[in-house]
Amino acid sequence: MPTILITGGNRGIGRELVEQYAKDGWNVITTARDQTDIADLNRIENVRAHRLDVAEDNEIDRFVDELDDEPIDVFINNAGIYGPRTPKRDEWLELMNVNVIAPTLLAERLKDKVAASEQKKMAVVTSKMGSIADNGSGGSIPYRSSKAAVNAAWKSLALDYKDEGISAVMLHPGWVQTEMGGPNALIDTETSASGMREQIEETSLDNSGRFVDYAGNDIPW
Ligand SMILES: NC(=O)c1ccc[n+]([C@@H]2O[C@H](COP(=O)([O-])OP(=O)(O)OC[C@H]3O[C@@H](n4cnc5c(N)ncnc54)[C@H](OP(=O)(O)O)[C@@H]3O)[C@@H](O)[C@H]2O)c1
Repeated sequence: MPTILITGGNRGIGRELVEQYAKDGWNVITTARDQTDIADLNRIENVRAHRLDVAEDNEIDRFVDELDDEPIDVFINNAGIYGPRTPKRDEWLELMNVNVIAPTLLAERLKDKVAASEQKKMAVVTSKMGSIADNGSGGSIPYRSSKAAVNAAWKSLALDYKDEGISAVMLHPGWVQTEMGGPNALIDTETSASGMREQIEETSLDNSGRFVDYAGNDIPW
């Protein structure tokens, strides 16, 4: 079975992705920051959980060293934060670190493992709130700018990685009932994760660099 790596697998959308892929027999590598969460994830059949705080270079170094030599068919960068609603320097910088710099540096570090696999795919869970064209309501300047920035980074990455045979997709999960999405969100994690899995399945070198939602609708940049 193929191998998938999903960051932030302990709760929310990441947890649902972990459970769905594991249930279908994939070899699932996932990450969490809390030891109790790691132990809990390791109890799921087909799942191996590692500690990783994506915001720290030394954590990324250790995590990548811990991985076996096995190829990674699909890398999903799911871990993310919402940050402050109004711009505040330190929290905004942390948001850029977690939502933009970490997914992109992780992709760089995992590129060879993905290139060595059969499926050769990468996905980042971004947000429609990163769409400049779609922004009709303003607000959430830090979060919006972080997701716009990760889209810009991953659009380049999708072009740059084509030579290695790697395709990439930027995914809007929908407005999802999680700690981040809140109880009034429109869809549950199961709907979001199964939709995003379909979009990952459809990702290829021919359509690499798409920005789509969980239902397959293209999102304007
Ligand atoms: N929910 C929505 O409506 C919605 C909409 C659009 C986009 N998204 C995106 O979807 C992704 C998942 O969101 P969610 O709703 O599932 O959020 P969530 O329930 O708040 O979960 C966030 C996940 O990210 C992890 N994380 C945060 N900071 C981290 C760090 N520094 N290092 C490692 N892991 C870290 C969390 O781990 P801890 O438990 O250790 O904090 C947790 O596993 C995010 O990228 C988010 O921006 C969500």
